[in-house]
Amino acid sequence: MYYPDELVEEVRMKNDIVDVISGYVKLTKKGSSYFGLCPFHNEKSPSFSVSRQKQMYYCFGCGAGGNVFTFLMEYENYSFLEALKFLADRAGVELPAQEYSKEARQRADTKAILLEINKMAARYFYAQLKSTGGRHALTYLTERGLCNDTIKSFGLGYSNKYSNDLYQYLKSRGYKDEYIAQAGLISVDEKQGVYDKFWNRVMFPIMDVNNRVIGFGGRVMGDAKPKYLNSPETLIFDKGRNLYGLNRARTSRKSYFLICEGYMDVISLHQAGFTNAVASLGTALTAGHASLIKRYVNEVYLTYDSDDAGTKAALRAIPILREAGISAKVIRMEPYKDPDEFIKGLGAEAFEERIGKSGNGFMFSLEILERDYDMASPEGRTAFMREAAGKLNEFEEEIERNNYIEAVADKYRVGYEDLKKLVGKAAVQSGLARPVQRPRVLKGQEKEKEDGIRKAQKILLTWMASDEAVFARLYQVLAPEDFSEGLYRTVAGLLYEQYENHRLNPAAIMNHFTDEEEHREVAGLFHTRIRELSTAKEQEKALNETLIRVKKHSIEEAAKKLDVTDIAGLQKLMTAKRELENPGKLHISIN
Ligand code: CTP
Ligand code: MN
Repeated sequence: MYYPDELVEEVRMKNDIVDVISGYVKLTKKGSSYFGLCPFHNEKSPSFSVSRQKQMYYCFGCGAGGNVFTFLMEYENYSFLEALKFLADRAGVELPAQEYSKEARQRADTKAILLEINKMAARYFYAQLKSTGGRHALTYLTERGLCNDTIKSFGLGYSNKYSNDLYQYLKSRGYKDEYIAQAGLISVDEKQGVYDKFWNRVMFPIMDVNNRVIGFGGRVMGDAKPKYLNSPETLIFDKGRNLYGLNRARTSRKSYFLICEGYMDVISLHQAGFTNAVASLGTALTAGHASLIKRYVNEVYLTYDSDDAGTKAALRAIPILREAGISAKVIRMEPYKDPDEFIKGLGAEAFEERIGKSGNGFMFSLEILERDYDMASPEGRTAFMREAAGKLNEFEEEIERNNYIEAVADKYRVGYEDLKKLVGKAAVQSGLARPVQRPRVLKGQEKEKEDGIRKAQKILLTWMASDEAVFARLYQVLAPEDFSEGLYRTVAGLLYEQYENHRLNPAAIMNHFTDEEEHREVAGLFHTRIRELSTAKEQEKALNETLIRVKKHSIEEAAKKLDVTDIAGLQKLMTAKRELENPGKLHISIN
């Protein structure tokens, strides 16, 4: 971090989280917290909460959470420094300029310049499209069925026929060659000099989730090759972490996304009312895309081209999505090539029907597999079932696996038990027989217990952070070391330190973590949903049960690690254990 902690904390304190978030999300006061619709995932009833007291937000639906810095990092895609700068500005706190390391400042400045250049280029392309010189490009787009509103809202444009027109324009606006080149808009050639990368193409600006132009795709208006030309990856354009159309799809308030392959598919779908369509940017779907998608929805419908390449792309995407916890269905486009052509041919209603008829991703992959076998012959069918069994074996969870075994048995008219045996055999043959080979996965009960302990620790942290009186009581009997895990213990330690200095302030604890994932997890520690307990007596009972649970676990863990020769340690543990068994000793009372 380039700024002193005190300064970071000052900026945080001068930006009340409720005020800041209210600028983005409509919040309503409910009890001691504010609630609204979560901006990080699609939902119909508000589970996004903001606490003025804790100066933190948390979504009970998707687990997004943090302090005011986190919010801007997630919502605006800011880096920590960008968020800090923004909030310092907002509160009128002056940040000493020299505190930036030189490289960091240069990087931040360059990013800002590249964004400006891209924005200016997009405007330029749009103006060209609307000028007389761009008439044929506009005709091209309208003939492809796009109306003016669509063209405008997607900011489509035209790069004209002069070889360095955009370059001259950007130069005239004062941008240096170096930056225009870094934005990927020009090529520099020793012999021919500088020329525009995009030339006589219709232009599709690519925006990030915050509507900032980060790159372009350009299409020829005939059959020349390459059909599409795209901006190279730059400081601001990471193809693996952006999706075309996501800036619009994320506010569509549907519980799933339609994922397609092309720019035109996304645009046609949006125009037809399917405002939840996105596309990967001329690349295969990556795990990065999947985790981006997971922020907004848990389910997607793949509407890839119906050709071989599209089918393969869908088959590759399904396991990547599954890995990220997203379930995928596949919409078939036959007899058309892609969603754009389908909509043009059969209309939106027919597409809606296809969505309804879309098949589960796994079953789809089996349908494709069928093509490799002679399903009319007994040998062919048997070989197919063997391969299918191998694929079924990849479902780790037994219930899920059995559900799929049932579905497959049903569809291919074989006995459930027979298929199940085949899957078991496949497991043995592939050397993946579950009990022996799998990496240690906690067994059901064990896992439940661990989750329970974590939950109990979270509850205590949440309780302590929101009620100083409870903290005072727990302080007597519970230490940071009683929290079992790395992050929990660190956070508890920091919280205790604050308490000892009479400055309980959970939001400040987040300043210690700069990673978005950690922010999320730490925020979760302070926002565990505690059952609504009406009477003080009920609360007291719950608190004591939780405390005992955490203590007991802590003693058990300590006992496991204890050196047999450590007599003092052993005695200490014995005392602790006795206290635990004697309810009077450990009992906490509220009020
Ligand atoms: N693509 C690309 N470069 C190419 C061809 C394709 O980057 N030379 C990317 C583009 O993002 C394109 C997508 O792959 O939108 C799908 O390509 P394709 O199916 O060939 O084109 P369509 O989207 O159907 O384009 P159109 O309808 O304009 O022909
Ligand atoms: Mn197409």
